[in-house]
Order: sequence, then C-alpha cells, then structure tokens
Amino acid sequence: VNDRARLTEIVGPANVLADDDMTAGYRQDWTGRFLGPSTVVVRPGTTDEAAAVIKACAETSTPVVPQGGNTGLVGGSVPLSGEVVLSLTRLNRIEPVDAAGGQVTADAGAAIAAVQHAAAQAGWAYGVDLASRDSATVGGTIATNAGGLRVLRYGDTRAQLVGIEAVLANGDIVTSLPALFRNNTGYHLPSLLCGSEGTLAVITKARLRLVPPAPHKSAALLRFATTDDAAAAAGQLRRGLASLAAVEFFLQAGLDLVCETFALAHPFAAATEGAYLLVEAASDRDPIEHLAAAVNALDGVADVAVATDSHTRAALWRYRELHTESINHVGPPHKLDVAVPVAALAELVARVPGVVHAIAPTAKTWLFGHAADGNVHINVTGLDPDDDRVDDAVFRLVADLGGSISAEHGIGTAKRRWLPLARTPAEIAAFRALKRAFDPAGILNPHVLLPDERR
Ligand code: FAD
Ligand code: MLT
Ligand code: ZN
Repeated sequence: VNDRARLTEIVGPANVLADDDMTAGYRQDWTGRFLGPSTVVVRPGTTDEAAAVIKACAETSTPVVPQGGNTGLVGGSVPLSGEVVLSLTRLNRIEPVDAAGGQVTADAGAAIAAVQHAAAQAGWAYGVDLASRDSATVGGTIATNAGGLRVLRYGDTRAQLVGIEAVLANGDIVTSLPALFRNNTGYHLPSLLCGSEGTLAVITKARLRLVPPAPHKSAALLRFATTDDAAAAAGQLRRGLASLAAVEFFLQAGLDLVCETFALAHPFAAATEGAYLLVEAASDRDPIEHLAAAVNALDGVADVAVATDSHTRAALWRYRELHTESINHVGPPHKLDVAVPVAALAELVARVPGVVHAIAPTAKTWLFGHAADGNVHINVTGLDPDDDRVDDAVFRLVADLGGSISAEHGIGTAKRRWLPLARTPAEIAAFRALKRAFDPAGILNPHVLLPDERR
C-alpha cells in the first residue's frame, strides 16, 4: 500500500500499523456492522506529522479515512475500501483553560470526558455530553457535529465551536484559534468543517466555548401509558421548567432489554408496558422543587421515580444510556438516527414497527432518543448488514413526516444514498462544489457523505 516507508519516516515505525490483528480495531466500526479489508493505520503525534502524512498521501493519490475514537455509528470512520486510516488519538493535549474567557483549546484526539474534566477543574463546564464520552474525541464530535444529551440546553457541537486548526487535502495547515468571543471576518471555517465527516479537511485542534456549571441536579424517571402522553409532556416540560437539562425517551421493550442485559432491577417492578421519559433539571441551586412542580403539572404520568443524589441519578441514567450497548448484544443493528417535528414524534414511534415488520417479520425494532428534540434512534436488529430495504422504507416515512434522515450521527457511508431525501439537487451540487474546492483529488474520506455520482 502506497509508500509505507515514507509514512514510517514521518511518524516512526511504532505508529504505522499494518498487521491485521493490530489494525482490526481500526477497521471495524463500533456496531460491528461495517468492516474494512487489510490496510495501514498511521498515528501522527503532532499537527506537523499529520500534515506530512496527508501531503505524502496526496502525492500518491492515496485515499485516507480520518479517525478519532471510532465510536461513529454511520460507517464513516472505517476504511471500507482499504483507505489508509489516519488515527488522531495521539493528538490528545488540552491547553490550560482560559478561565476569564470561558474557552479551551484541545487537540482533535482528546476525549470529550477529558475536556469535561479540564473544564470542571477550572470552574467551567463543556456543553456537549454523550454516552461515548470516554472514547469520542473533539475532532470526531466536530466532524460529525455530535448532538447528545444536552442539545436542548446548550446546542450541538457546532454551537460550541469558536476556532479550528486543520490540515487541508494538500497538506497545508490552516489555523484559527483566537481567544475571542466575537470574530466576524468572512467565511467561518469551523462551521464548515463541523459536520463535514472528514471529507473536507483533517481537524487537528479546536477552540471550544465553555458554559457555566450547573452543579445542582435532580432527575426523574416518568412512565406514561402512551407515547402521545410522553411526547406532550416533553413539550410541556420545555415550556414549564427553566432548569430543564435533558428529556430522554425510551420504551418498555428497550428498558426490559437493558435490565436483562445488565442484570438491573426494573424501576417500576409491576409495569409491563409504557413510554418513559428521563427528565433532568440542573441549576446553580437545588432544582428539586421546580422539577417536582413541573412533573405534578403533567398529564398521563403513571409512575415516577425521583433521584436527588448523584448515586440514584446515575442509576436512572443507566436505563437510558445502556440502550446502545444492550442493542449491540442482540446483534449488529441498523442504526437509523432520525429527526421529526416534535409534533410528529408519537406518530413516527407508532408507525415504524409496522413498516419494519412488513419487510422483515423476524427483525426487532428498538426505539429511544432525545424526546425534546424530536430525535428518535430507530434501531433494527436481525437484518443482514447489507440489506437496506428497511432503512429505505423508514427513511421514506421520516421524509413524509417532514423529518430528517440524520439528527445527530451524520451520513457516513450508511446513509449516503438517501441524502437526496434530506437535501435538494441544488444543495447537493453546492456540496459537491465545496468538496472539489477543498479536495480536488478526492482523497479525504471519498466514500462518505455525498452519494456516489455513478448511481
Ligand atoms: P469517529 O467515529 O472516529 O469518526 C466519526 C467521523 O468523523 C468519521 O467520518 C471520521 O472520518 C471523522 N473524523 C474523526 N476525527 C476526525 C478529525 N480529526 N478530522 C476530520 N474528520 C474526523 N452521537 C451523538 O451525536 N449523540 C449521542 O448521544 C451519541 N451517543 C453515543 C453513544 C454511544 C455508546 C456510542 C458508541 C456512540 C454515540 N454517538 C453519539 C456516536 C459517536 O460517539 C459520535 O458520532 C462521535 O462524534 C464520534 O466521535 P469519534 O471521535 O469516535 O469519531
Ligand atoms: C444515544 O443517544 O444514545 C446515541 O446517539 C447512541 C445511539 O443512537 O445508539
Ligand atoms: Zn443520541
């Protein structure tokens, strides 16, 4: 593969992996659905090394897949066509927090949990949180514009992004990491690279906005008889609870699976059906009274469990956060992360199982997500990895409901053929023009995001 000796000169022999056993973890995605063939993994330790690797690959027209924590869920981080993997995890420094400005500069390979920790040590907080926090990286979350559990309160990753350093497809480095709050000077590269899924440039550093900490937290797990009631309650909580920090959603089948997989006690032992909301309030003073009043005002609540201390809160969160891992235990899922208008959430949840069943009667459907944002994670197990008939039918239903085929995970390779359901021909033409401008030789993640032009 290309000039391995040259890559070894740049990053040293310990950081060029070619042995199949050594590269296995970089070639397979987190779900186990996507696996790439034998290839080389290169692990630069500095931005200059990353730039030299890209320059070398550009000279030999060698395609490259940038990779962070490899927790992506759309097959965008693995070398499905034998591309070279550029792993950024050795770039993991976090500079001292700018405590006065409430910002921090972090390397692309730093884990989100490490950024959260650094922010907390300086009396600040980072607004993005997701269950993959220990592995997902700054660069990967920017490249996918990750959402997560706090979008409702602080916005997505794009909303945190102040500046960026990146390596362009020719090996040039662009740096804009100003310690500024305002900087209105033309095209905003951080916004453009955010959500570009490794197709326009390799992110090597970012300047991130921090948020004030909200150290007092209370959570409640609510059971409703119907998804309609749960969806209505999510809307009411957004209006009625100023300290609202998260409203997460799951169903009885997912809860049962989590309890079985991780040997957890059921929160409401007698309940055999229902739609659940995990609600968290966070503030600079104890939010429990406001949370209790807001919950009391809701219609259709069948059961409530409240957590005021961190131990019980963590126990409630486990029912939600362990969905992803539990579903993976059933088998490699098709992960259809979609968004619909909040008013259509209950209809989507009601219709999806029938759509799946009509195509794949033995497949299982699991539904959970970020209720207040209209973001539903539709997971289907029991399908062949390459059989995308269910994906197609579900995405068409979502489009009919005025929704989006990706709420937060991105397009990757898994959804690229359906991009026209979410974007107009003129938008896709503009995307292609950007891709050509940034990466004329098409070496950066060439099989990701944009639909294949030959299809
Ligand atoms: P990777 O998986 O390594 O890469 C993802 C994409 O970014 C690929 O296209 C890759 O080429 C590109 N990329 C990576 N690094 C760079 C870089 N430095 N420069 C340019 N391109 C790069 N996602 C959510 O949005 N919300 C959630 O709540 C959420 N929860 C999750 C929970 C679990 C348990 C798991 C396993 C995943 C979850 N995810 C979630 C998905 C995943 O964690 C996010 O997509 C995350 O942003 C990926 O980060 P990563 O560092 O692992 O990137
Ligand atoms: C989540 O919200 O838990 C994630 O996006 C992961 C998933 O969809 O499985
Ligand atoms: Zn999610």
